[in-house]
Amino acid sequence: MTDATRIPVAGTPGYDIVVGRDLDALIPEALGAGVRKVLVVHAPTLGAKAEALRAQLSERFEVYLAEVPDAEAAKRIEVAAFCWQVMGQTDFTRSDAVIGLGGGATTDLAGFVAATWLRGVKVVQIPTSILGMVDAAVGGKTGINTAEGKNLVGSFHAPAQVIVDLAWLDTLPRNELLAGFAEIVKAGFIAEPEILDLIEADVDAATDPTSPVLRRLVELAIGVKARVVGEDFTEQGLREILNYGHTLGHAIEHAERYQWRHGAAVAIGMVFAAELSRLTRGLDDEAVDRTRRILDLLSLPSTYPLGRWKTLLATMQRDKKARAGMLRFIVLDAIGKPAVLNGPEEHLLFAAYSEISA
Ligand code: GLY
Repeated sequence: MTDATRIPVAGTPGYDIVVGRDLDALIPEALGAGVRKVLVVHAPTLGAKAEALRAQLSERFEVYLAEVPDAEAAKRIEVAAFCWQVMGQTDFTRSDAVIGLGGGATTDLAGFVAATWLRGVKVVQIPTSILGMVDAAVGGKTGINTAEGKNLVGSFHAPAQVIVDLAWLDTLPRNELLAGFAEIVKAGFIAEPEILDLIEADVDAATDPTSPVLRRLVELAIGVKARVVGEDFTEQGLREILNYGHTLGHAIEHAERYQWRHGAAVAIGMVFAAELSRLTRGLDDEAVDRTRRILDLLSLPSTYPLGRWKTLLATMQRDKKARAGMLRFIVLDAIGKPAVLNGPEEHLLFAAYSEISA
């Protein structure tokens, strides 16, 4: 185990996000002394790792494994019911615990199962994708999808600890690693410009899983999330800034029938948000150009077909209705200075979209 960095998240209770390499030795301590039974909810490709965890933990804990479908297919009520069934049949009590082992969808489901069993048991999250490490698994949002939309059922449930083991990234496919970078770049634009400097200075080091630069980037991005979540766990206000690039990004994901990587859609959404910021808040040209340059360095897309605008707008309007609110965008007054743009006129949205159209 290399030196681990502990990033605290304030709250009641607060928790730590631990970043390092080869961190399995920390898992028993993360579960804590009172726990007897542990359910490891894991993605299908991680069966061997889940077995290894069972072997590691079985001296101190009774360990059960629940293999769940890959990616979004895990976030269904039937899959949650399967996990509840395992917990029911093994007499899981309120002082037992769940481990979420996998990408963002797996940890969302594992968190949801933990949040709902007996009104809430401990969950230790072990994200294995970069997206999970810097976003999905670290903020306590848990949930599943319904036929009507993504993440419509869920709960805010703080993890007992998040173990961010960078060794997982060594074998992550390159395009998945780069897509995950969209959330790191987002953290750079909304709050942590050092992220942008590091990527521009040496993109190869920035995206090399074994390099200290990538570790620093992950820590900086998690630091942003930890500060925001620590102040506004249940998204009453500030936490909304984490949605920079996501309003249009979600509409693109929907238009692409969720076959695109989340990060690719968010990348385009960030260019749109930057253009909208230039039009409505006077964000300077250099910041907008910088958005495109950085995404380009990471081979992330920054354009989308002009003819898709009406469909995207309709999806954003539907989402708006679902939230019973105005169409809202997170925009930037400057790099590191996010703001909320409420109910912008349609011609402004179209003007910003025209700038990102292929
Ligand atoms: N992914 C946005 C949030 O955690 O609030």
